[in-house]
Amino acid sequence: MDIESVLVTGANRGIGLEFVKQLINLSKPPRLLFATYRDSNAKEALETIRDSTQQTQILLIQLDVTKAKEIEDARKIVEDVVGDKGLDLLINNAGALKFEGFPEITEDNMLLHFSTNTVGPVMVLKELFPLLKKSAVRKTTETTVSRTIVINLSSIDGSIGSLSLENPDGWLHAFGYKTSKAALNMAMRVVALTVKDSGVLIVNLCPGWVKTDMGNMGTNEAELEVGESVTAIMKTLSQLNESHHGTFIDRNGNTIVF
Ligand SMILES: NC(=O)c1ccc[n+]([C@@H]2O[C@H](COP(=O)([O-])OP(=O)(O)OC[C@H]3O[C@@H](n4cnc5c(N)ncnc54)[C@H](OP(=O)(O)O)[C@@H]3O)[C@@H](O)[C@H]2O)c1
Repeated sequence: MDIESVLVTGANRGIGLEFVKQLINLSKPPRLLFATYRDSNAKEALETIRDSTQQTQILLIQLDVTKAKEIEDARKIVEDVVGDKGLDLLINNAGALKFEGFPEITEDNMLLHFSTNTVGPVMVLKELFPLLKKSAVRKTTETTVSRTIVINLSSIDGSIGSLSLENPDGWLHAFGYKTSKAALNMAMRVVALTVKDSGVLIVNLCPGWVKTDMGNMGTNEAELEVGESVTAIMKTLSQLNESHHGTFIDRNGNTIVF
């Protein structure tokens, strides 16, 4: 992979933190890594990594993806640092899950999921899109095989086609989460088709059921270690091409029905 700059949202724990760890350990690590956190009391792990990493310059940015001003401020920081080279990779990872099923579901619960899991990633992409386009132009003119990529961490829980009456899964009580991820899939599909000539590859990806705070939900039932999931995603990332644009795939690159 030939990635010079990358931004990961929700990088202070879980899958986002593992992305940071694996990106800096690539044989050719990125020169710049923007790792965002929401809570300034929860960035210790990122600070430790930043302070002990040499090949990659890690910049920590406070970013709540539901706050327009913080998204704009983050873009300014990234823009100042990357300049005309633009941003090569955006990992829209931040996400939230709070169980509530129907009919208990509240407006607050639904709005929390939509603002974090749907609107947030779209607004982050919208703000950073000019920088991604700059990267894409450079990559096509410099004839490198590597692409400018946006990965949106989605979930099979947002797949309408996978949820049948014969085969309901056990997560119907994740009502707000499932609907917000389905909306994310559609939002990013629409964006992908709209910007298909920009050179920016946009992919929705499910990491599997991963042992993080979100995946475990207080139990230890999730299937995958976080390292296992992100290792598979990194491999898939290195193999993405035009055929993946606007698709919904699992960590191994297999298509998931929308
Ligand atoms: N784990 C799984 O099994 C699984 C399965 C499918 C999809 N996914 C998706 O993978 C992504 C990462 O999940 P995870 O398992 O790593 O979850 P996690 O351990 O709960 O971590 C979630 C991350 O998102 C951040 N976040 C939440 N709300 C935010 C906001 N408004 N603004 C900015 N950051 C925010 C959190 O920051 P704070 O520390 O400040 O809360 C944290 O860094 C999510 O999009 C999730 O939906 C996970």
